[in-house]
Amino acid sequence: MISVNSTNKCFYLEAESFSYVLRVNEIGFLTNAYFGKRIPRADLSYPKYDWNVATGGECCAERMSGLMQEYATYGLGDFREPALIPRDERGSRIAELAYLDYELLAEKPEIRSGIPTAEGRETLVIRLGDRDTGLQVKLYYTVYEKENILTRRAEIVNETAGTVTLEKALSLTLDLPEAGFELLTLWGHNNRERQPERTPLRHGRMCMGNTRNITSHQASNFMALLRPETREESGEVYAAALMYSGAHYEAAEEDEFGRTRLSMGIQPEGFAWTLQPGESFETPEAVLCYTDRGLGQMSRQFHDFYRSYVISPRWVDRERPVVLNSWEGMFFDFDEARLFDTIDGLKDSGIDTFVLDDGWFGARNSAEAGLGDWYPNRAKLPGGLAALAERCRANGLRFGFWIEPEMVNPDSDLYRAHPDWAIGVPGREPVVRRHQLVLDLTRREVLDWVKQTMADVIRESGASYVKWDMNRPLTENFSQGWPAERQGELLHRYVLGVYELAKFLTESFPEVFFEGCSSGGGRFDGAMLRYFPQIWTSDNTDAESRMKIQYGTSLVYPLSASSNHVSRVPSRQNFRVTPRETRRNVAYNGSYGYEFDIRKIPQEEFAAIKGDVERYRSLSALIRRGDLYRGSNRTESNEAVLSVVAKDKSEAYVTFYAALNCPKHHFVLKIPGLAPERLYRVEGKNLVLPGAVLERVGLTLPLLSGDFASFGFRLTAED
Ligand code: DGJ
Repeated sequence: MISVNSTNKCFYLEAESFSYVLRVNEIGFLTNAYFGKRIPRADLSYPKYDWNVATGGECCAERMSGLMQEYATYGLGDFREPALIPRDERGSRIAELAYLDYELLAEKPEIRSGIPTAEGRETLVIRLGDRDTGLQVKLYYTVYEKENILTRRAEIVNETAGTVTLEKALSLTLDLPEAGFELLTLWGHNNRERQPERTPLRHGRMCMGNTRNITSHQASNFMALLRPETREESGEVYAAALMYSGAHYEAAEEDEFGRTRLSMGIQPEGFAWTLQPGESFETPEAVLCYTDRGLGQMSRQFHDFYRSYVISPRWVDRERPVVLNSWEGMFFDFDEARLFDTIDGLKDSGIDTFVLDDGWFGARNSAEAGLGDWYPNRAKLPGGLAALAERCRANGLRFGFWIEPEMVNPDSDLYRAHPDWAIGVPGREPVVRRHQLVLDLTRREVLDWVKQTMADVIRESGASYVKWDMNRPLTENFSQGWPAERQGELLHRYVLGVYELAKFLTESFPEVFFEGCSSGGGRFDGAMLRYFPQIWTSDNTDAESRMKIQYGTSLVYPLSASSNHVSRVPSRQNFRVTPRETRRNVAYNGSYGYEFDIRKIPQEEFAAIKGDVERYRSLSALIRRGDLYRGSNRTESNEAVLSVVAKDKSEAYVTFYAALNCPKHHFVLKIPGLAPERLYRVEGKNLVLPGAVLERVGLTLPLLSGDFASFGFRLTAED
């Protein structure tokens, strides 16, 4: 709920459990008066909240120096992180943003450039302006009351008489009048995505982010401030995630006066965006989440938000395909006969979709060639993709295939015809990664070609599933389609090109299910979830590694967004051998599928698939819609407990996992999230117990056999 008090000039943005209060102070600047646990709607204009008074500053001389700025600018005496650096024609970078007016919109506006935003209704727009130049900033706020989420973004409008170049335009400044927080971020690398890292915030600035122009394996666009005492189900959390898929930046800063500032937005390094008079620039949307009930509650709020307002309603609650993906089983080593054998072999297996991964097109017999030549390789596949789709249909399966539309191999017909279509500096030998270059999606002719080519391939394939991969970061950021002074726009324009392509393809083929991927989980973010209901979480399918990767992913994103496959052992990634039941139990906590070579999978493993898939289908609605409670997690402990509880508390699915077996250790499994008074029947045991007993007394587990043991069971309310 948003309400405005014009007398005390306060804006109240209230969700069920937080208040976010803005105030225009006595000298006309917009300040953050409060963000935290819900409070009564009070007049927060009393002096305590005017930092100028509190620090003894002279209002006029130190106008901006100590403010709790709602959107911080540069060079005016607040020496903390600015959100905005605009350079005008004189070379001045100063903008002093005073409050102008506000507007309450009944419907949330979209971002005109095409950056995806969450669905929403009532939106507050506050307009700020610089008296000297006329530059304006509009701040957009939407409250999601039930989910306890606030989205924020900024629009910079060039109302000046000349050109303005934005050297930095972040999505948010969040000023909190306190210090002593801990910082939670998600770092990682390929095969080890989204590893949580928690550290006390020191004086000064701590930054995350990347310049690769994908969300990246290395740094997720997520940052949270926690109290030192915050745990899984207790304590305050201020978290933010960015709806963006390119180079991003996050910073937390504790200053000498005991204040903390969180900043987030497009990565300023390499960024420069020119606005002619009358033009504007809209930043991506930041998703703010507050709770005083710990990380678990933070995750549940994020999950509800992404499920209700971000992931397409067409797919969010639909039964997901259970796939066999060809990659780990075959890599590039296949032909039509081998694929037909595989498809025939899957008949009645329980798997419902066969997905042909990389290698079906052009001269693509390895990663060295073929990207860009999007026609089936007839030597390998005489009947093309359509014959595979037909074979699937004949066996009661659906068909899916892999694309990497943003890329080109230098060894391809496309590159030979259009070398200038790749991003790179003319005359300079490009850095080639995975033998490939990035197509310049900032150029209309390139983007239109990719759109058309992909649409043709999908239409002709007869597929109902497409896996969209992206396997290299951007380097040598130079476009032959733009003049020198616009090169700083390249990275963001590229991301806009990706969104245009994704929107076009998903809207052109509404019945095709698109899964996102980027060398595993290198582009896992809220903006991608707008197009891809699920994203390949990691190329690392080893169950022990996945327990950690999926834990970090689940901090922000719902389980259904996480694409998990059971693969063969020893693991292709780290040669670890884990039991089949554990690989399955770990993969159950997400959108489920397989990777194997049908010729090599042991008979008993193959035979088990049918029952395992049936079991998954019986659980999948609960996994998609339920509330996730994490009793313990593998990042911090040898054992992990996951409990997915139905919204009405009528049932739960519990997963227990122990990495190493401790022979004398009897683990007591305490199950969080149940209704305390309701009676639950424990699957497989002759036991009916109240939720509070299962949570507080728990179940003592028998000795487990071997390492990486796990089991899963259902709890069903008796009433
Ligand atoms: C990287 C992906 O993460 C893999 O699953 C697979 O699709 C390969 N690319 C194919 O090149």
